[in-house]
Amino acid sequence: MLNSEEKLRALTAQAEEIIKSFLPAEEGEAADLIRAMNYSITAGGKRLRPVMMEEAYRMFGGSGEEIGPFMAAMEMIHTHSLVHDDLPAMDNDLYRRGKKTTHAQFGEAAAILAGDGLLNLGYETALLAFDLTGDAQRVIRALKILARSVGWDGMLGGQSVDVALDGQEKDAETLDYIYRKKTGALITASLLIGAVLGGADDAQLDKVRQAGAKIGMAFQIRDDILDITGDEAELGKPVNSDSKNQKETYASLYGLEKSDEMVTALTAQAKVLLKETGADCSFLCWLFDKLTSRSS
Ligand code: IPE
Ligand code: IPE
Ligand code: MG
Ligand code: MG
Ligand code: MG
Repeated sequence: MLNSEEKLRALTAQAEEIIKSFLPAEEGEAADLIRAMNYSITAGGKRLRPVMMEEAYRMFGGSGEEIGPFMAAMEMIHTHSLVHDDLPAMDNDLYRRGKKTTHAQFGEAAAILAGDGLLNLGYETALLAFDLTGDAQRVIRALKILARSVGWDGMLGGQSVDVALDGQEKDAETLDYIYRKKTGALITASLLIGAVLGGADDAQLDKVRQAGAKIGMAFQIRDDILDITGDEAELGKPVNSDSKNQKETYASLYGLEKSDEMVTALTAQAKVLLKETGADCSFLCWLFDKLTSRSS
C-alpha cells in the first residue's frame, strides 16, 4: 500500500501522462498556435484539479477510462484561465509555473489565441469521453457541470468582477462571490465531475459540491497569503502581484493570521462534508490538510 505522499506523486505523474496524451503535435499551419498552447500546459503546475477529479471518481466506485479526457480537459481549461489571468489587461504578470508567461514569451496576440485554444481544446477533449464510456448519461451530466463552472456563472464570472474591482474596496459578500467563482468553481467541478462519473448519488453529490466550495475558498485564501509571504522560485510566479494591482484580498482585508485561521476552518468543514458522503475520503482529506500549508 502506498502512503498518501507516494499516492499523490503517483496520481500527479499519471495526470501528467494523461494530459500530455491529449495535446496536439506542434506541426502543420497552426504549429505556432499549438506551440504557444503547449508551452503553458507543459510548463508544470501541481495538477491538483485532475488529481482531485480522479480520486473523487475512484472514491465513488469509478473504474473506467472516461475520466481521462475530463482530467485533461479540466487542466486545459484551468491553464487557459492562467494564461489570460496573466495578460497585461488582467494581472499583468511575467512569470508563471517557473517560466516566462505565455504573452511574455510569444506576444499578447499569441497568448490570447493560445488561451482560447486551450479552452476550446478542453471541450474537444472532454467530448472524447463518449468514446470510452458505457454510460453516456453520466458523461452528459459531467459536461454540463464542466461548462457551467467555466462560464459567466463560474470562473469567468469571478474573474470579471475580480479585475473590474482592482483598486477598489470590496465588501465581504463581493469578495466571497469572487473567490467562490474564480477559484471555487473549477475546483468544485473537478470533484463533482469525478463523483458523477464514478456513480455518486444525489445526496453524495450535494455533499461533494459543498465540500468543493469550502476547499476552493480555502485554496484561494492560501493563494493570497502566498502572494505576500511566498517565495517566487518555489511558487513559480511573482509575489506581490495583488498589491501591485491594488487588489484587495482576504489577506489584505483580514490580515495574514486571520486568513490562515479561515483556511484551517474551511478545510476542516470541507473534510466533514466529504466524510458525510460515507465514501472513503481518507486521501482527499489528507490532501486538503496538506494544502493548508502549501508553499507552491
Ligand atoms: C493558481 O492555481 C490559480 C488559482 C486559482 C489560485 P494553482 O495554484 O492550482 O496553479 P498551478 O496549476 O499549480 O500552476
Ligand atoms: C486566479 O487568481 C484565479 C484564476 C486564474 C481563475 P489569481 O490571479 O490570484 O491567481 P494567480 O495568483 O495569478 O495564480
Ligand atoms: Mg487574477
Ligand atoms: Mg493572477
Ligand atoms: Mg494569486
